Amino acid sequence: MALAKIGNGISFAEETASDVTTEVAAAGGTLVIPELAAKTDDNGVSVFALKAGTGTDTSLVSGTTLKTAGYNGTYLGPTIRVSDGEQVRFDVTNQLGADTTVHWHGLHIAPSNDGGPQNVIADGETWSPATTINQGEACTLWYHPHGLGNTADQVALGLAGMLIVDDGSAANAALPTAYGADDVPVIMQSMGVLSSGSFVTTNAGFTASGTTLKFLVNGASATDETPTLEVAAGRVRLRLLNASLVDSITVARSDGATVTQVASDAGLLAAPIEVSGLRITPGERAEIVLDLQTGTTVTLRATARSSTNGARYTVSMLEVTGTGTDTPAALPATLNTIDALDTTGAAARTFTFANSGNTFTINGVAGTSVTAMTNNMIMTTLGATEVWTLVNSSTTIYHNFHVHDVPFQVVSIGGAAPTGANLGWRDTIELPPSTTVVIRLKFTDYADSTFMYMLHCHNLIHEDDGMMLGLMVV
Ligand code: C2O
Ligand code: CU
Repeated sequence: MALAKIGNGISFAEETASDVTTEVAAAGGTLVIPELAAKTDDNGVSVFALKAGTGTDTSLVSGTTLKTAGYNGTYLGPTIRVSDGEQVRFDVTNQLGADTTVHWHGLHIAPSNDGGPQNVIADGETWSPATTINQGEACTLWYHPHGLGNTADQVALGLAGMLIVDDGSAANAALPTAYGADDVPVIMQSMGVLSSGSFVTTNAGFTASGTTLKFLVNGASATDETPTLEVAAGRVRLRLLNASLVDSITVARSDGATVTQVASDAGLLAAPIEVSGLRITPGERAEIVLDLQTGTTVTLRATARSSTNGARYTVSMLEVTGTGTDTPAALPATLNTIDALDTTGAAARTFTFANSGNTFTINGVAGTSVTAMTNNMIMTTLGATEVWTLVNSSTTIYHNFHVHDVPFQVVSIGGAAPTGANLGWRDTIELPPSTTVVIRLKFTDYADSTFMYMLHCHNLIHEDDGMMLGLMVV
């Protein structure tokens, strides 16, 4: 059963937010695929309109009317698809009845357009950042609110959508690219619903008595019915996004066979890799391909884990069946060229992630106010390459690190050289307990002395509880 309608079908001019109720997908458990965001042309600029509004759902937990929110619908949002070099404008209208922001997670964009806590969109207003897509990689990104202290609350309502960037590379073209047919978004969310009828937005809520845990795939509950996907081609590309607040998700085939991964967070890998499972932390993406001979069915399983890595449950999250007769050509042996950033003379910084109870800090600072951000700003300069040491000082809690503006390369994890998908570009990476991760990154193209970027833990409850600092590139 689908939680809610996703896409462009709702006109907010005719219906007020409170009139919008859930539309349940037809029975049969077919994977709900978010619509592609409509694009209109304004003198060579591609314009995408997003309206954030509220809704309700009665299908997810029987007897419970759940408050939801979505972009152009009542849960999640349409998929925005753009090409490198394209001039775009996002017209984001807020009809939530509360302040919001929209951040383009992973997009290389000027800080004034980044959608962080400084880009507040008041209720009833429209924010229209315009930019030229300047990514340099084909990648799977996403968008979500990023207000100070209310990111988890707003993402939990359903405010999230996918953002796909294509480039002109032969490797991207050699992978499936037919949206919804053989190139399919898979937005995974491990959520809780409180007995009071709202989504869980605190750690305690996940284990509170009466809480119902649900694994959503593109807004539909895989906990209640495994969604199915029929693919007419011999190969399918799945763009996996973990849009959970807290939980990491391990995805694997239920038959134990390996999965072919072609992209990490922020771009195609140098070459396809075979993995037994993918551990995807909140905010992370990964792209996989499945080869499906006619009539073959592959079931993907997901295990959701809490911020202490305790398994909450395992579900069959997606059943994919090939119905075509074509045999796919071999995948390209080389997908991308990833040159190591030159760190000669690079500045070094250390960030230590810690908590005391529900106060979460980076280098002892809880970034819960604009003043705290301003007083503890990380200042760097345009063109600088830096090496950052990320220390998780907790012995039990997992964090994960995300920085806005530019992707990074992993230098080491727990002293060891990276392997597998950690050799690719990333913008989010897990910080296991008592572990140090070293990364390198280069600040290119955008500088501003008014607007800041953010660096933070992408466990959204930790982020809202202070595990976030401002970053200014001048
Ligand atoms: Cu996905 Cu700073 O966020
Ligand atoms: Cu954290």
